[in-house]
Amino acid sequence: MKVNSNYFNLNESYLFSTITAKINEFSKYNPGKDIIRLGIGDVTLPLVPIVIDAMQKAVLEMGEAGTFKGYGEEQGYLFLRSAITRYYENKNVKLKEDEIFISDGAKSDLGNILDIFSIDNTVLIPDPVYPVYVDTNIMAGRKIIYIDGDINNDFLPIPNKETKADIIYLCSPNNPTGAVYNADQLKTWVNYALENDAVILFDSAYEAFIQDEELPSSIYQIDGAKDCAIEFCSFSKTAGFTGTRCGYTIIPHELKKENASLNKLWLRRQTTKFNGVPYIVQRGGEAVLSEQGLLQAKNNINYYLENAKTITGVLEKLDIWFTGGKNAPYIWLKCPDNMKSWDFFDYLLNETGIAGTPGAGFGKNGESYFRLSAFGKKENMIEAAARLENIGAKA
Ligand code: MLT
Repeated sequence: MKVNSNYFNLNESYLFSTITAKINEFSKYNPGKDIIRLGIGDVTLPLVPIVIDAMQKAVLEMGEAGTFKGYGEEQGYLFLRSAITRYYENKNVKLKEDEIFISDGAKSDLGNILDIFSIDNTVLIPDPVYPVYVDTNIMAGRKIIYIDGDINNDFLPIPNKETKADIIYLCSPNNPTGAVYNADQLKTWVNYALENDAVILFDSAYEAFIQDEELPSSIYQIDGAKDCAIEFCSFSKTAGFTGTRCGYTIIPHELKKENASLNKLWLRRQTTKFNGVPYIVQRGGEAVLSEQGLLQAKNNINYYLENAKTITGVLEKLDIWFTGGKNAPYIWLKCPDNMKSWDFFDYLLNETGIAGTPGAGFGKNGESYFRLSAFGKKENMIEAAARLENIGAKA
């Protein structure tokens, strides 16, 4: 009997598990120390009222013989997939309901999608980026090549003609840097994918944070993308569903490889390995996309963006280089005095009680950078800003 030895090539634990363990260790030795957690991008505001109403109604339906639901529709309930098509119409993107698959979040699908691709494909991953893309491909034993994001390209790498890849991951607005590709840059990626017969896996989990209307919030706003891209999105960051779990994956019918429809392959995969998202939760997702739901969700997003401003205001004062925080809930800063990311993590936790995420956890180009999440409670963000300012005074 043999285990999957590819797992030996992974870091011992997932980035955010390592951070949680470090914070717990710190708390053990510093009891009573008030820690402000700006590490994992987890929301703090409760679900908006319209979502609660919809889910309560759905709970009651589940208790009545006439409205009770067992297994749901294969790709997710039509009411939710229709709501998503209307949401995309507002982005000038036309989708068919059967191009949408409801999931329990973007992370699972971003990992699971690899089931439909050959192990022989080469994967191109920007560095720094969300660690799930790298880890899931290491688990499968696929060849990974990296494309560098750094201060010179504003952490928005663009492919060159020499690079050969079959599967490309893009995340915009980016986790961890908060950088967002503009339409011309995304067009370059789409052209590259079409020329190389590659597939783009486009993670748009943070699209709802885009404030600048010129910036694309879906890759399908770019001509040709339906022939080469799969889009993954989620209600986690849009509407605080990190604990409720609901997302969706879009695979256009145009997208074919070796004459096979990727939509059909994914349907085959999902119907075999996944039994869907609870009816109650899907009703909550539908409520998010109603007119009132979008307004309520927007209020929460504005709250987090205000939090981001509270922090970036201090960074500006301290003359610390940063990006993000404007069209994304993450602030990506250069560690003062060129400190290494994990050293800065320890320093910040010890000196201020603020826990963030070391940039090195997102790839080698993240070394000496640091990510702060704006998903905290307003009062904690104000307190964090004051503590950061103190650090500046000490330095
Ligand atoms: C993060 O902090 O990068 C995210 O919360 C992780 C996730 O969405 O899975």
